[in-house]
Amino acid sequence: MINLRKISEENFIDAFNLKLGNGQDKFVSHPIRSLAQAYVYRTQCQPFGIYKEDEMVGYVMVIYDYDIPEYNIWHMMIDEEYQGKGYGKAALKCILSYIVAKPFGDSNRVTLTCNEDNKLALALYRNIGFTETGVVDDGEIELSLDISTNHIL
Ligand SMILES: CC(C)(COP(=O)(O)OP(=O)(O)OC[C@H]1O[C@@H](n2cnc3c(N)ncnc32)[C@H](O)[C@@H]1OP(=O)(O)O)[C@@H](O)C(=O)NCCC(=O)NCCS
Repeated sequence: MINLRKISEENFIDAFNLKLGNGQDKFVSHPIRSLAQAYVYRTQCQPFGIYKEDEMVGYVMVIYDYDIPEYNIWHMMIDEEYQGKGYGKAALKCILSYIVAKPFGDSNRVTLTCNEDNKLALALYRNIGFTETGVVDDGEIELSLDISTNHIL
């Protein structure tokens, strides 16, 4: 059973120890870098460990952009050893359930970006219901989802 747990004093070292596969660092920041950003944006974000039962198998951060306003999903990754087992898809559903509760603000819009070469992740996001906004920046495709009309949860 996949679940999310907030990054805390108890588990941040486990996040440091997560590993990306060969070449995947061009698709996503490692949790160490992501947690440094989380400190900068600490009033508007929540980093999570992705757990299979009690074992951390991945990492993701939810951040709220008050200017637009919208929720953003940043730096989702599953440890290389655990990829391809359905954990990423299950984690994405957990993340959307967290956002549906509107922890930071009232927006229904969820946005993320994905490298155009990251075909697997793009398919995952499209299958959940994300669609391209038309914005592409430096090879990063922006996709968004309206959680008020999405029925995947
Ligand atoms: C992208 C990522 C988060 C997906 O998580 P995952 O646990 O590996 O993916 P899942 O097992 O949940 O599979 C998601 C979908 O991809 C398919 N898939 C997974 N591995 C696959 C493979 N090796 N070949 C083909 N399809 C594959 C699954 O069948 C599933 O499709 P479905 O929705 O039709 O059932 C993970 O692979 C990862 O961390 N990659 C490196 C970092 C990254 O790219 N992050 C995303 C940044 S935008």
